[in-house]
Amino acid sequence: MKLPVQIFGVIGHPVSHSLGPHMHNAAFRSKGMDALYLAFDVTDPTGIPSAMRTLGIGGMSVTLPHKEIFLSLVDHIDPTAKAIGAVNTLRLEKDGSISGFNTDAKGARDALLSVTSLEGKKVAVLGAGGAGRAVAFGVKEAGGIPLIINRSRKKGEALARELGASFFPLSDFWAKDVEILVNTTSVGMVPETDQTPISPDFFHENLLVMDIVYTPRKTKLLRLAEEKGCKILDGLEMFVRQGALQFELWTGKPAPIEAMRKALEDLPALQME
Ligand code: ATR
Repeated sequence: MKLPVQIFGVIGHPVSHSLGPHMHNAAFRSKGMDALYLAFDVTDPTGIPSAMRTLGIGGMSVTLPHKEIFLSLVDHIDPTAKAIGAVNTLRLEKDGSISGFNTDAKGARDALLSVTSLEGKKVAVLGAGGAGRAVAFGVKEAGGIPLIINRSRKKGEALARELGASFFPLSDFWAKDVEILVNTTSVGMVPETDQTPISPDFFHENLLVMDIVYTPRKTKLLRLAEEKGCKILDGLEMFVRQGALQFELWTGKPAPIEAMRKALEDLPALQME
């Protein structure tokens, strides 16, 4: 590597299991860039903007639990991040200011668009937390019709209202006429891999089921959906697509999506059994 190396990274707490370094370093290698992406375990993120300026850190991913606080720590907020209420990407600008973006919504949209169209399609979004908000906004932005399905009525109705969407309680959701269903809850993630957020009884052959959980790659929800003849999309694609958008924001170059996906698919924890 030639000095100075451009530094990028992820901040979160905990952050040791982050897949970002595998994916982004593979992207830099594949483009022959002298750049490095590191994981920083940060409990108090308030000094991050000034650290980025001082050290010349070009961009950072932001993960749990810091996605909301950056709304008030950055100098400029992109409209999508503002609407979603969460920042997952920081960029150091030439004038030393820091911009905040959210690539989760467009990452979800791009993952879905890689296998289907969204225009006019009804998309059941299971969950109304941060991930549910991002997926629902991404679907709406691409012309889809999100339906918010949530266990607790209050949170689900609030998100539905914001989007001008319908809300259904998870307990009595039966969506025969839905074309796409996306699980945005963490149900089914290791170690509770025998759980599903919803019974697949009503699943039909023309339903596309996406899970944003990617450990394991094939969650119980996806396995049952496949048995019902549904098309499935695992959570790795959204992770790769949101990362690809980060790469583009930071470098201004098209992201090497194949290299990024392959770097993750090669990891033992992400093997499809
Ligand atoms: P994140 O920001 O990662 O999306 P979150 O804000 O904790 O996480 O939101 C989690 C979402 O998953 C919520 O919509 C939650 O439903 P409630 O609003 O009813 O809490 C949903 N969720 C979590 N565990 C669940 C479970 N076991 N069954 C159904 N929904 C669940």
